[in-house]
Amino acid sequence: MKKILITGGAGFIGSHVVRRFVTKYSNYKIYNLDMLTYAGNLENIKDIENFENYNFIKGDIVDADFINSIFQEYQFDGVIHLAAESHVDRSITDPLAFVKTNVIGTMNLLNASKMIWKDDYSNKRFYHISTDEVYGTLGETGLFTEKTAYDPNSPYSASKASSDHFVRAYGETYGLPYVITNCSNNYGPNHFPEKLIPLFINNIINNKPLPVYGDGKYTRDWLFVKDHAVAIDLVFHEGKNHETYNIGGFNEWQNIDLVKLLCKKMDVKLGRQQGDSEKLITYVKDRPGHDLRYAIDATKINKELGWKPSVTFEEGLEQTIDWYLSNEEWLRNVTSGEYQKYYEKQYS
Ligand code: NAD
Ligand code: TYD
Repeated sequence: MKKILITGGAGFIGSHVVRRFVTKYSNYKIYNLDMLTYAGNLENIKDIENFENYNFIKGDIVDADFINSIFQEYQFDGVIHLAAESHVDRSITDPLAFVKTNVIGTMNLLNASKMIWKDDYSNKRFYHISTDEVYGTLGETGLFTEKTAYDPNSPYSASKASSDHFVRAYGETYGLPYVITNCSNNYGPNHFPEKLIPLFINNIINNKPLPVYGDGKYTRDWLFVKDHAVAIDLVFHEGKNHETYNIGGFNEWQNIDLVKLLCKKMDVKLGRQQGDSEKLITYVKDRPGHDLRYAIDATKINKELGWKPSVTFEEGLEQTIDWYLSNEEWLRNVTSGEYQKYYEKQYS
């Protein structure tokens, strides 16, 4: 039985990955390691918590002794590393937290993998989940490919770029078998409502202003989270060692157009008059260092592994809205407490 460590499995993307692996691979033992920061929520995976092949470990990837001890104890065969500080705006106010978790935390996992695998890397794999934000910003045209030079602009993307470099360096220097994927913006169920789409769904429900940064002309390439989980499954099993794959939605939207589409759909769902939610749009001070445009060229993963998104943006957005409307208790629980303080500070 293979033992797979998934880090950050109580977060947004991690919870979808853990569910997919636990339910699909009964021959794997899945260990979900998560510190349960403000973004980690065991409610996200409560449907699988009693599966026999699932184990939860609460702990901090920044704590090297702890990480070494669990690697010694469980002797993992593979690591799928998602745990991270993931929100750009928080990285602007507290960059060091991002260096600790995203850089030092990744280093600890690399060192522990190297320690237990002891140069016998057969059937071992370290899979590092990264972001397209490491490539910096695009102008009006062009796409990020796997060959685009790293050029991160925010403390978040700089910390992810740094961790990507260390993973690559461990591959070159010690032969550690790794794969890295750089994915575009995800959306879907269980997304913490500090990010654009879930924040705006929550605010529309509660008739609160929709704070659009700058002129709203910034562009992102959106991918439904379950399609990302499918890609992660595929790359973990069929990707080539020492390779990077870009993952994207082939789905670019300017923020303001996306917000208007969301408003229209929410008006229908909530039985409000068309135009009601759009009235909540409020242009606010721009994010410093705001990247103009991200867009992924996902040709490599498509050609080599046969992956492509399975749902259109319209379908994915419908499913997402429906999930939030039928999980208002989840929303209430995650928006209470620490998140409220963050919200007041960020948007006051
Ligand atoms: P998230 O913020 O929703 O979840 C992060 C998880 O990591 C949480 O469960 C949190 O408790 C855990 N965690 C944080 N610090 C930890 C620590 N020190 N020790 C152990 N656990 C810790 O993030 P997400 O959006 O699900 O992103 C997951 C990964 O995917 C990240 O590496 C992120 O950089 C990457 N990514 C995200 C997106 C996106 O659109 N969300 C896109 C591309 C790549
Ligand atoms: P976000 O969801 O934070 O993801 P990222 O910064 O990683 O792309 O933001 C997506 C886009 O939405 C980005 O251009 C910033 C913008 N945005 C707003 O206009 N208002 C907001 O309140 C937030 C959170 C984001």
